[in-house]
Amino acid sequence: MEDVRITIKPDAQIGTISPRLYGHFAEHLGRCCYDGLFLKPTSASVPNQKGFRTDVLEALKNMPMPLLRWPGGCYADHYHWRDGIGPVEQRPRRLGMSCGETVEDDNRLGTHEFLWFCEQTGAEPYLAGNVGTGSPQEMCDWLEYCNSALDTTLTRLRRANGAEKPFGVKLWGVGNENWGCGGNFDARDYALEYRRYATMLRHVDPHVELVACGFDEPWNRTLLQTLRNHVDTIDHLSVHRYWHGDGGELDPSERVSYRLFTEAALTEAFIQQTADIIRVELGERRRVGVALDEWGIWHPEARLQFNPSTRGGPYEQVSTLRDALAAALVLEGFHRQCRVLSLANLAQVVNVLHAPIQTRGAAMWRTPTYHVFQLHAPHIGATALEVEVQASLLPHSDELRCVTATASLDKEDNLTLTILNLHLDQSATVHFGGIEGRVLSKAQLLTADSPLAHNSAERPNAVEPQPIKATESTQGGYLVNLPKHSMATFRLKRK
Ligand code: AHR
Repeated sequence: MEDVRITIKPDAQIGTISPRLYGHFAEHLGRCCYDGLFLKPTSASVPNQKGFRTDVLEALKNMPMPLLRWPGGCYADHYHWRDGIGPVEQRPRRLGMSCGETVEDDNRLGTHEFLWFCEQTGAEPYLAGNVGTGSPQEMCDWLEYCNSALDTTLTRLRRANGAEKPFGVKLWGVGNENWGCGGNFDARDYALEYRRYATMLRHVDPHVELVACGFDEPWNRTLLQTLRNHVDTIDHLSVHRYWHGDGGELDPSERVSYRLFTEAALTEAFIQQTADIIRVELGERRRVGVALDEWGIWHPEARLQFNPSTRGGPYEQVSTLRDALAAALVLEGFHRQCRVLSLANLAQVVNVLHAPIQTRGAAMWRTPTYHVFQLHAPHIGATALEVEVQASLLPHSDELRCVTATASLDKEDNLTLTILNLHLDQSATVHFGGIEGRVLSKAQLLTADSPLAHNSAERPNAVEPQPIKATESTQGGYLVNLPKHSMATFRLKRK
């Protein structure tokens, strides 16, 4: 049993935890969009609203999901937005391509459908434009179609397709992974291409926020140096971070679990390094945010070639409590980096990769990662606070503690504390203080007998939150016993 002290510092405020840090990502890949979010014509018996699965829609509303990126991923650099508007039966059939997958794509889920779904779920839309096979004109047209209030042929078309008012989409990505699947550019060539796109897009709508494709340090430096005299063209720099844990999705070895946690924790350093590069290259001339618009665990089993008897489609994986704890660790880092991290999107929202929701036929279940997001919901929009944690080091780690925590204060003066116990064999007796004048109003725990526990069609609620007891400590604050491999959220209100 580990003895841990946590001190919240309500006066040490880091910054606002933007709702955009709790974003998600829907790509036309595997069963994420089609058969996950949106029904295929062959699965019409599942209850739906305008083709979107009702169960998935409701679950995402309640998670919640403040931001949603679409349509890719690698898919975006093959996507032509005009294919996805107008009467569904007249839409062209194309090849849907991403990550080695090539499928028939009937374009049923297009701009209007996606933006309707965002409105229903309360998500801010984030559209990824096509640089690989598109043109500045094509992307300018998409922007005009979505955002212009003037009377033009394109906006008449939008109205004819059912949207009287402009959609007002703020966030636009100029390509995706253009150092790889998005055209195999080198950094300077992409920077010049980006500059052209961004300049023309700003003419169409000067109020949009544009996301440039970043990558590793040399790429990011070259990109920013090339854009140095045109820094007003860039608002966010996109980077991606997947981690693998050096083992399989259900590999029980301690080494694999701790490796996974360590890699997840390093996401914060990656954000800091990217922010440092931006600071050094642009100085005071422009504040450009780090857009971690794809992140999560990518297990070796999640690949193009899959076994249909064990999983529903390509790039799917079993999503365990261990994965969820790794996601929670990443969210803690997001809070600490909220001054430089401008948005983040977990990859992906349904079925594919580190999904909070999975489906099989008519069945739908929330993964432990869904519950982690829901248990973090009170932090969204709140002010991140500094937290001091005194705990021993996690086995196999030189830096990561067994117990970690994050705290925030919302506009109604409620304090939220989230604590993780990453140790696989030891529970922790945690004393948390720094909460003078506040009383515990709600406490919830997420854990299971095994870190590999997961939900499934057969056992959708095997891992789900439950209440946890905390007792007032004689030294002030509260005492709580946190089981091994668990996380808990404590809500504290003014007395
Ligand atoms: O999320 C799956 C893929 O990973 C995306 O299409 C691509 O951007 C990344 O390589």
